[in-house]
Formats: sequence, structure tokens, C-alpha cells
Amino acid sequence: MATSNDTGSGYDARMIPRRNLLLQLASVATLAACGAPTRSKGGPTDDSGALPIEDDTSATTDSATLDTADAPDPEALCGEEQPLPTRCVPTSPDGEGPYFREDAPVRTELNIAGLEGTPLVLAGRVLDARCLPQADLRVYLWSADPMGRYDDQADDPNLYGQTVTDAGGNFCFRTLRPVPYGPPESRLPAHLHLNFFRGATKVFTTQLRFAGDPYLPTAGDTSRNVTPEVLTDGTERIRFDFVLPDPPL
Ligand SMILES: [Fe+2]
Repeated sequence: MATSNDTGSGYDARMIPRRNLLLQLASVATLAACGAPTRSKGGPTDDSGALPIEDDTSATTDSATLDTADAPDPEALCGEEQPLPTRCVPTSPDGEGPYFREDAPVRTELNIAGLEGTPLVLAGRVLDARCLPQADLRVYLWSADPMGRYDDQADDPNLYGQTVTDAGGNFCFRTLRPVPYGPPESRLPAHLHLNFFRGATKVFTTQLRFAGDPYLPTAGDTSRNVTPEVLTDGTERIRFDFVLPDPPL
């Protein structure tokens, strides 16, 4: 694998075994494949060129309606757990941006709107500087969609969710690959936002970017520029060890 402040909501972080996380991912992935809620697009709301996507009141995530018969194999999506590294360099931090929402739903399938795009799996692991897995951390993932828009105004935002690391520090989201966005003179490279909380305390904020993106800075830190592997069904997968700051916050 590659190695790379505020108040909480009162969420009671609890450890979810990795297998349960994977089953959750598979179940909700089937929901998306079987006809996820549709959404209408609104107008621009910020200086990034991002557009909001309005919530559809017919949306439902009732797990009782799920049919997992055709669900993707979660183990295949997230990959087998990797051996722990012997040397862990803290991952470099990056900005949170304006779209973080601490009330993000607990889920690992993030494309609830069923948007078209390149499926992307982020199979992450959280370690400390001694390479010890960090269990029971809340991990948030959010990004722009394949058209460069953040779903920043919906009650149930697409491509946005939180989960909890298991005993091995693992977490796994399924989302869509974002694209660069913004006006031509200041376009941002495609990126994934991540926040990590221990209890109510935010302990780390960073972003992942994609190697080869034409809008990457021409100099500076490249440790979080990732090259996803492409799975047989075309899904891209990133496996990344997030090493928390040392000393820990
Ligand atoms: Fe962003």
C-alpha cells in the first residue's frame, strides 16, 4: 500500500467487524444497482462552479427492500487485508474545503443517486506512526461527482458518507471517480476529501488526488497522488494507508 478541530455530533463510534462493513457495502451497492433515487439538478451555488443536487423526497434506503443476489463480492471490491507495514510516515494533511458535513449518513455505498461514472473503491486503513491499526475511528469521505459538482445542499447528499474503522484499522467505501472542477484559470485536480474522528475529536483531514491529473501542482507533495488499480469489471480501486500525525492530536 502507499503511505502517505472542532466539536463532534455526539455520534457514538462503535467498532463494526470488517466482514459486517463489507456486507453493508454489498447490500447498499445492490440498492444503487436496482434503482436508486433520482435527483434533479439545481443552479451554481459557489465559486467552484459546483452545482447542488436537490433531494428527492421519494428516496429510500430501506434495507428490507434490498436484494443482494447480484451484489458485487465485497471481498473482491475491498481486497484482502494487507500485512502491516514496518515503517509508517505520517500522511500529509490537506484542506477540508467548504463541503464537509458532520451529519453525513453512515454508509459505504456513496452513489445513492445512481449517477453514471467510473466506480471507485477506496479501501483504506488507518495506522499510527508506529504502524498500529487505529480501530473505531469515524472516517468521512466526500467528493465532487463525475461532472464536477458537489451535492452540498441535499438532506441526504450523494457521494458522501461516513463509516467506522474495524479492529485492523480498515474501512472501505464505494463511490465514483471525481473529475477536476472549477473555472479554467483555477481548476482543481480531481480529489477525494477525508476526515477522521476519534470520538468527537477531529484528528486528521486530508485529500487523495490522482497521478497524471493535468491539474496537479507542478511541484510539491506527491505522496497522496494515487494510481488506482482497475478491476475486471472496470471498477477502480485505491488502497491507501492513512498514517495519523505523530504525536497524535
Ligand atoms: Fe473539493
